[in-house]
Order: sequence, then C-alpha cells, then structure tokens
Amino acid sequence: MRSSGRSAELDEFVERVNERTDIYSVVSRYVQLTQRNGRYWGRCPFHNEKTASFSVSADKGLFYCFGCGAGGNAFKFLSLIENISYFEAIKLQAQRLDIDLPTRKLSPEEERRRREEKDLFKINELAQDFYHECLIKTARGEVGRKYLEARGITAETIENFKLGFAPEEWDNLLTTLRRKGFSHQQIETVGLITKRKNSSGYYDRFRGRIMIPITDIFGHVVGFGGRVLEASDNETPKYLNTSETPIFNKRNLLFGLDKSNRAISSAGKAIVVEGYMDAISLFSAGIKNVVASLGTAFTPEHAKLITRYAKKIIFCYDSDEAGQKATIRALPIVQAAGAEVFIIKVPDGKDPDEFIRKHGKEAFERLINNAETMIDYRINYVVAHADLSTISGKVQALHDILPVVANINSEIMRNEYRKKISSALIMDEHNIAAEWKKFSSRPIRETFREPEIKKVAVQRAPVSDDKSSLFRLACEDILRISWHDNEALEYALKLVPQEIFSEPHREIIKWYRTCATEERRPDKMSAAEELSEAAYAELSRIFINGFDAPPETDERVFDDALKFLRLTALNKRYQELIAQAEKYASNDKETYNKTVAESLKIKKEIDKLQSKR
Ligand code: UTP
Ligand code: MN
Repeated sequence: MRSSGRSAELDEFVERVNERTDIYSVVSRYVQLTQRNGRYWGRCPFHNEKTASFSVSADKGLFYCFGCGAGGNAFKFLSLIENISYFEAIKLQAQRLDIDLPTRKLSPEEERRRREEKDLFKINELAQDFYHECLIKTARGEVGRKYLEARGITAETIENFKLGFAPEEWDNLLTTLRRKGFSHQQIETVGLITKRKNSSGYYDRFRGRIMIPITDIFGHVVGFGGRVLEASDNETPKYLNTSETPIFNKRNLLFGLDKSNRAISSAGKAIVVEGYMDAISLFSAGIKNVVASLGTAFTPEHAKLITRYAKKIIFCYDSDEAGQKATIRALPIVQAAGAEVFIIKVPDGKDPDEFIRKHGKEAFERLINNAETMIDYRINYVVAHADLSTISGKVQALHDILPVVANINSEIMRNEYRKKISSALIMDEHNIAAEWKKFSSRPIRETFREPEIKKVAVQRAPVSDDKSSLFRLACEDILRISWHDNEALEYALKLVPQEIFSEPHREIIKWYRTCATEERRPDKMSAAEELSEAAYAELSRIFINGFDAPPETDERVFDDALKFLRLTALNKRYQELIAQAEKYASNDKETYNKTVAESLKIKKEIDKLQSKR
C-alpha cells in the first residue's frame, strides 16, 4: 500500500479494513444477488434496469455493471451508494466492522496550517461580535435596528443568526482587531479590510451595512454578507460579500446549514432558497430545514452537502426569469447527486421571504406539500417557453420534454404524462406515443435525465466505443497482463502507438507507468484512489471481464493481443497512405512514388506479421 502523504498508522488502518472487507457482504446489504457462472449477479442500483447486468466477483473483490459501466471495489461501491467520499466509505466500513480509527498525529506543516486557520476563524468571530454589539447596543447601530424591525426581523432572530451592523466609519473594525493583536495581513486575508489605493494603510471593507455572518457546517464564521440599508443608487451593490479566502469558498458553503442540518435530517428534505434573507425569514417563521446558496450557481458540492442529510431537495428560487433559469440549471446537478428534486414556485412573483411574511407559515407549508416534481416542472417550463402556434414549435417542445420522461418505468405514470403532454401541447396522444417509443429505445446514457439515475450512470465513458469489440478485447488483455508486468507494457508500447488506446485505457497506462517510476506495484486500493472514476471503472471491468485463465497462458494471450493491435495499427497506417497516394497521383509524381513505396513497406510488414504463428 502506498502512502500519499498519509501517515503509516492511517495506511495500516486502511489496509486492515481492506483485508477484512468482503465485497459480497458489502453489496448484498443493498442489492439482491444470485450466483451464476462463478459470479454474483443482481439488478444495478445505479441505473434502472429490468434484467441483471450488475455483477460481483467475490474473489477479485470487484463489482461492475455491464449496463451503466459503474465499477470498482467494495469501498467504491459504498461511496457511490451512500454518496460519500472514498475515504468516508472506508471509515463507514471500519465502523461496520468495529475497527477503530487511528488517532493521527499532525505533521509540523499541518500543525502550522491548522493554527493559521484557527486565527482566521478567530478574527471573523471577533468581527461578528463587533458588528453584533454595534447593532444591538450602540447609537450608531440605531439605523440598522430600525431597518431590521421594518423587515419584521425579531430580536430573537438577530440573536440566533448573530446579525450585526457595520458602522459608517473607515477603521472602526480595523482598530479593534489590531488592538487584539492581529496583523494587517491576517485581517486582509479574511477580506475584512482593503488596502488604500493612493496612500499607505487599510480601511474597513464593510461600512454602513447589515452584517450577516456566514458559518461553515461546524459553526466557524468563515465570511460575511453585508446588505445596504437602502438601495439609493445603482453604484452600490445591494449585497457585498466576502470574496474567496482560504476559509471561504462559496462553491462548498450553504448559508444556514449549520443550523438547519438536524431539521433537514428529520424532515427528510431540504429547502434551497437564493437569498440570505429568505433563509433567515423562513427559519424564523419555523420552517427550519432551509439553506441558501449564497447568490451563486448551485454546485455539485452543494448537492453533496445536502444529500448527507436528506435525499429530497426542494428548490424555492425567486419566481423571476433569473430564478427560474437558475433552477433549470441546478436540476441536472442535483439529480446527478442522486437526490430527488422538487420545485416550489412562489406565487405573485414574490420571493420566499416576502411570501411567508405576508401569508404565514401554514401557507408556505402548503407550497411545500404542493411542490412540483422535477418532471412536471420541466414540462411546464418547456411549454411556457415554446412557440405552440406552429407544428414545428410543438415538435420542438415535445423533443425537449421527451428526454425527461423517456425512461419512466411505470406504465401508469407514462399514461399520466402522455395525457398531460398531450393537453399541454394540444397534440394527439398517438403521435406522442410514437415519438416517445423512439426515445425510450435509446441507451439510457443519451436520455440521461431520468430521476432515478445516479451520478455514476451518467458520467461514465461510453461502455461500447466505436472500435470493434475484438480490438477492445485485445487492449483489455494487454492492460490486464501489464498490471503485474510493466516490462510487457513497455514492450507493447514500442510496437503500437499509444494513441490507438481509448481515453480511459491511456489513463490506466499512464498510471501503470507512474507506479513503475515510483517503484511500487499497482494495487487495487491505490487504483481506486488515484484513477479517475471512468478509468477505475474501466479497470474493474477489465478484471471482472477477463476470463479466468491460468497465469501460464498470459504470455500467449499477450502475444496474440499485441499482434492484433499491431495489425490494426498497421492497417490503419496503410489505409492512410493509400488515400494520400491517391491525392498525389495526378499532380505530384515524386510524392506519389514515395508514398506508395512507404505503403508497400507497411504492407510487407502486415504480411509478415500475418504469416507468423
Ligand atoms: P436577492 O436580490 O433576491 O436578495 O439576491 P434577497 O435575498 O431577496 O435580499 P433582500 O430581500 O432584498 O434583502 C439573492 C442573493 O443574491 C446575492 C445574495 O447572496 C442574495 O442573498 N446577491 C444579490 C449578491 O451577492 N449581491 C447583490 O448585489 C445582490
Ligand atoms: Mn428578498
């Protein structure tokens, strides 16, 4: 086992878990498996299927789905099905096996970074206290108090979210933090002060704004959003936010999650809103399973954060065009994380904050209960944006809708949706059925948007590529045998160009070579950690697929495969030269002759190779 900057204890731990892990018992917790041909088979949990193409080889410790191309070892399986990272999967399995996690000592470098980070959290926390005190206790905070009161924000909410006010002065916060012993550079790092342009020194970045602290999942203050009191001109942005810092990265932060995660778990669903104020408002009104996405696009990291707590995600973005566009963009991301998606459209163009203030908690709960499924939402969105006055507009709309519904398995639901689409597009049901059939017969990859398909099913490299299956098998043989024989690989690469291998195969080759230079043997655990998902799944396939030939036959299998690849490469080159020669035949005798001569040389090589047994 190799250690990539990992401590020996940790490596040992991983090895111990790995040794005691049996892929059959891991998988059979989730998938019903039956034995056939020395392997276990079941219906793949990562894509929808009626026949079993998901296979597990207990002695190889691998799984592979011939339908969607997901594959790997037991930990990979756990990480995909539980939607956790690879290392979290190892820890989960350790828990199940009752193996203790090693307590790890930090390296001096890690110690230093940890200390620095702690200082940054501390600075933000002091800033939060400063703004908060200013809001609730000082005369300068009076305008802020008035503003929040007018928005119906109670003292309890102010306390709960530690809301604050940044006074309209230049260096109040700066002086306070300097007095506590922090350097200009540290305070600048967390984005609270800015360097002056024309003279030396710094000034407070947030002034005259309501301050909303942003916390990470552990409750550390990592940044702030600051809202102007009154939008007076277009120059001043309504919200000023902390920009990217070592501890503030919007891609993987959700506002409110530290407060709402328990409510999200117990409700089994999370409501995602666009704005801080929306989240604060819903939370204060008693809808506690809410987070806000900080005014950025919803990212896969966000989806992952939420799906740790619940599989249902309800989007409640603003009902304006921008909000709806953002919703549409978020859908495939959430779906790829394996979540079930619903959408709330707040009536009368209001945002969630305005709605709940005006109509109350029960009215909002009704919106939650009537949330649209993703399919309905997509259909309505397409219909609203389509030109239904022409036949071609209708057909276009139908084609935009079909990918979403194509793979619905339930007959009853299909009928329902056919009726719905028919009346929405004013189109004959039979015509819809005919088009639908065409879509459903396509491989799942192409239609992709079906709710039950998890990430793994859509990110995979195509299972069958354009090259012949014999060619593919030959490549696989080479890679399978090269696993424990790097010299064989280098030999093969002298005779065939690397370009003839597919993308994931090339990645595997590159990794083999890295292992060789680092003088370590490829092993299945590091493969899982170091290869991309596509390449690792492909490698698993190669091992699961490879017939269980005794190692004595390796040499012959390898030679056969290599010969086949060489012939393929030579033939390709030969065809290219012939085509080139044809081009020169009439206008450039000299090049023509040279090309033909070269092609004959290749032809000879081909013949020689073919005659060899
Ligand atoms: P909204 O304009 O919808 O804000 O922006 P809001 O939450 O309704 O705020 P109020 O009710 O007017 O106070 C949604 C989110 O987009 C980001 C913020 O994160 C905000 O919460 N945003 C908006 C900015 O970052 N900067 C801006 O200038 C405006
Ligand atoms: Mn608002």
